[in-house]
Amino acid sequence: MNNIASSLSKKNKFLILGCGYSGNFFAKTLRRLGFTVLTSSRSINQDPDSFVFNSEANIMPKKEIFDGVTHILSCIPPDKNGNDPVLKSLKTKLKTLSLEWIGYLSTTGVYGNTQGDWVSEIDPPNPFQKRSQKRLNCEKEWIESGLPVQIFRLPGIYGPGRSTFEAIKNNKIRVILKKDQVFSRIHVADIANAIIYLLQNKDTLRFYQIINIGDDEPCSQIEVIQYCYDLLGVKMPEPIFFEDAKNDLSPIAKSFWMENRRVSNKLLCKTLGYKLIYKNYKLGLKNCFLNV
Ligand SMILES: NC(=O)c1ccc[n+]([C@@H]2O[C@H](COP(=O)([O-])OP(=O)(O)OC[C@H]3O[C@@H](n4cnc5c(N)ncnc54)[C@H](OP(=O)(O)O)[C@@H]3O)[C@@H](O)[C@H]2O)c1
Repeated sequence: MNNIASSLSKKNKFLILGCGYSGNFFAKTLRRLGFTVLTSSRSINQDPDSFVFNSEANIMPKKEIFDGVTHILSCIPPDKNGNDPVLKSLKTKLKTLSLEWIGYLSTTGVYGNTQGDWVSEIDPPNPFQKRSQKRLNCEKEWIESGLPVQIFRLPGIYGPGRSTFEAIKNNKIRVILKKDQVFSRIHVADIANAIIYLLQNKDTLRFYQIINIGDDEPCSQIEVIQYCYDLLGVKMPEPIFFEDAKNDLSPIAKSFWMENRRVSNKLLCKTLGYKLIYKNYKLGLKNCFLNV
């Protein structure tokens, strides 16, 4: 990722709307490559390259923030009413800019429950949860906006500072066993690098409006937890069957166990040629372990 190919130039200016976990990683990766990157958060912070955008409090970015912007990545989830905060507050403004690209981070929750089967971008979305229906509505609104948007559907995001190691350290771990249940996941570095790869090669690769970014090996949560305990050299607690654990789970935690799917990355990794840094949870967690 050291050479900047022709599709991106140092003249590009990026705005990252919603500089949370993924947005922050993306911003840092771009800055290391020498790009100008401004990031938003809902309240003022010390970072001179950060600005405030809060759709719910109606705090809009100052107009100079948009000067010369060529690329935008939105990492902001739907608001409590199901509206996309960026489209709701900034669509008119965005339409006045000479944007080359907008990325939108969505979720693989829009596919719903496939009973463990593989699911890809050509499969019709079939959201099971209300929040995933809202997300699908936001995706549609982005597509219909006429803006040059590319949507990235993401499974569970993990990486340094946000992985099973933190759950273990903070006593938040629950070792739950549910037969045949798998989860898909993606290391945050692969989200950033895959998107930058697509931008660097934009002129030569066919454009797909919706792309999954997931690793090669969806698997059970218990495998992941066991692997972390092995790396820590500590015995894993005895698993609890899902049926026994479910009444103690929060509604959001429980909802994740109600869907079972394997998210295909063939479009990204075979058709478009992106090479994952962390092909599976073992490689990704080793990286997290070094940063615990
Ligand atoms: N976490 C996962 O495993 C996962 C999986 C699949 C998809 N996703 C989706 O992928 C995207 C990025 O995920 P993430 O985990 O990196 O996100 P995150 O850390 O939760 O960051 C979300 C960002 O959105 C900002 N934000 C939230 N509501 C806003 C509003 N009304 N107006 C302006 N800004 C607002 C937050 O501002 P502050 O910085 O001020 O808090 C934060 O910067 C999200 O849409 C998320 O739902 C996440």
